[in-house]
Order: sequence, then structure tokens, then C-alpha cells
Amino acid sequence: MSAAAEILLVGFGNMGQALVRGWLGRGRAARRIVVVDPAPAARAVAAELGVTAAADVDAVTRASNDVVVLAVKPNQLATLLPACTRRAKASTVFLSIAAGKTIAQLGAGLGATAAIVRAMPNTPAAVGHGMAALVANEAVTTAQRTLCTELLSAVGAVAWLDDERHLDAVTGVSGSGPAYVFLFIECLERAAVDVGLDPALAKQLALATVAGAGAYAAAAGAPAAELRRRVTSPNGTTQAALDVLLAEPGLRELMTRAVRAATDRSRELSRA
Ligand SMILES: NC(=O)c1ccc[n+]([C@@H]2O[C@H](COP(=O)([O-])OP(=O)(O)OC[C@H]3O[C@@H](n4cnc5c(N)ncnc54)[C@H](OP(=O)(O)O)[C@@H]3O)[C@@H](O)[C@H]2O)c1
Repeated sequence: MSAAAEILLVGFGNMGQALVRGWLGRGRAARRIVVVDPAPAARAVAAELGVTAAADVDAVTRASNDVVVLAVKPNQLATLLPACTRRAKASTVFLSIAAGKTIAQLGAGLGATAAIVRAMPNTPAAVGHGMAALVANEAVTTAQRTLCTELLSAVGAVAWLDDERHLDAVTGVSGSGPAYVFLFIECLERAAVDVGLDPALAKQLALATVAGAGAYAAAAGAPAAELRRRVTSPNGTTQAALDVLLAEPGLRELMTRAVRAATDRSRELSRA
């Protein structure tokens, strides 16, 4: 059923477009995908990709879909849910990527028996290197889980959670995490200029070092702490820098505090 699944995707913005490009790249047939977005520019992108697009959910002619992917902004979601149920059948799974919208909040609009998966993806999905964590309610079947895994693994890695409450921590780590890495790149670039390098070279060195170290760490498989030890000779240059980064309150403590702040904020926003 999975390759033949009829997909309705509501909200064809950054994340919606990344998903559809990923699905098409993995060989999913464009005719199985219908997208909804009020923005003419978004619908023009759909046309370029050969995917049917409608301006609102009620204008979608296909009556029943195997999965309805909810990819609008969280504040745009509530009013859409009743219309989405009219494009569903008993075996439809709803896959929401809207940050902070709980399964209970989604269920209030989709009905008590709806099969709902809530996911937290991240920005690198746009280049196929995302990280998404997913959690399902009790109505979700094994086949529906497999389908949701396939849909999100088309744009990166996937992990399932047993407990929805962990999605706040996931938001604090991988959801907001790309911004921490962007800040790191920014800091490394500024430091490179500070030690006398040309700004263009500083930018190239910072970006390539972070991208290369990430790719190396992923390929090496060894724990990051071990990789760090392997490149740190006693009293060498790396050691001199790490002594600064690890002096209290060092990067470890700052990162712990940062992730905790993001996790707490995610919790607050889910309650709002
Ligand atoms: N981008 C990320 O890295 C990321 C990461 C994790 C989670 N998310 C979640 O993913 C969701 C989408 O984020 P995004 O960055 O892709 O946002 P986005 O670029 O603003 O995309 C949302 C799209 O939905 C459209 N839309 C608005 N009302 C609609 C309606 N009634 N029916 C159908 N489409 C409608 C918007 O059109 P208009 O522009 O005309 O309003 C826009 O094109 C959000 O809930 C966000 O929390 C995103």
C-alpha cells in the first residue's frame, strides 16, 4: 500500500515543498500527490513538479486519501482540520509537522478515533539531511507507521518516540539545533577574521570545517568524544583551544542551558 498511497499535503511552503521534492526523488508518483496552498506562487511550484494543487482543502476533488500531511503554520491549523476530515476515510492517517500542536489538540479537530502522527522535523530536510522525531496515538496501525517513516525518511533520518512529552526535548535538540550550529559557524568565521584571515576565506574555512566534521562524525560511527580525543595531541594546538572551550562555564554547560531553555519554551508554547 505504501508506494501506492494517496497523499494529500496541506501547506506547500518550505517544509511542504522539501517533503514533496524528497518523495518525488525517492520515486513516488506525482499523480499520487495532491497539495493545497492558497499562495499562487506555491501552486506554480507544484505545477512545475507535475503535482496537482488546489487553493483550499474543500476544492480538492479526490475524496479519500491514505495520508493527510499537515504542513501549515501552527496558528493556521485549527480552522483547517474539519475540512481535512472530509478528505479522509476510516483508514487515513493524519501526519502533522506543526510545531507545538499536541495530539490532543489535533484530535479535537479531527475526531476522537482519528489516527494521528505528530512529527518534529528540522530545516536540513530542505537538502535531504533532516532529522525528524515522530510519535503516534493508539489508533495508528503498523502499516501507517511504516508509511509515515517512509514519508519523512525521504528528507533525512527518522526516530520514533514512545512518549509525546519528549517532543519538547527533541524540539530543543534537533528542531532548534540547526540554529545553534549556524551560530557556531558564525562564531568560527568571526574568530578566523580576528586572527587575521580574509573574510571570504574565513567564511569558507568555517563552513567547510563544520560540514566536513559533521559528515566525518556521521561516517566514523565512533562517539564524538572519542573523535575529539583522537585529534587532540597533548599540549598541541587543538588542546590549547579546547582548554578555552571547556573552562567552566564552558561550551558543555552553555549547551545544556540552551537546550533546556528551548525545551522549556516548547512546553510553554504547546500549552498556549
Ligand atoms: N521550516 C522548518 O524548518 C520546520 C521545522 C519543524 C517544524 N516545522 C513546521 O512545519 C510547518 C510548516 O513550516 P514552513 O516553514 O514550511 O512554513 P511556511 O513556509 O509558512 O509554509 C506554510 C504554507 O502553508 C500555507 N497555508 C496557509 N494557510 C493555508 C491553508 N488554509 N491551507 C493550505 N495551506 C495554507 C502558507 O501560505 P501563506 O504563506 O500564503 O500563508 C504557506 O505556503 C509549521 O507548522 C512549522 O511549525 C517547520
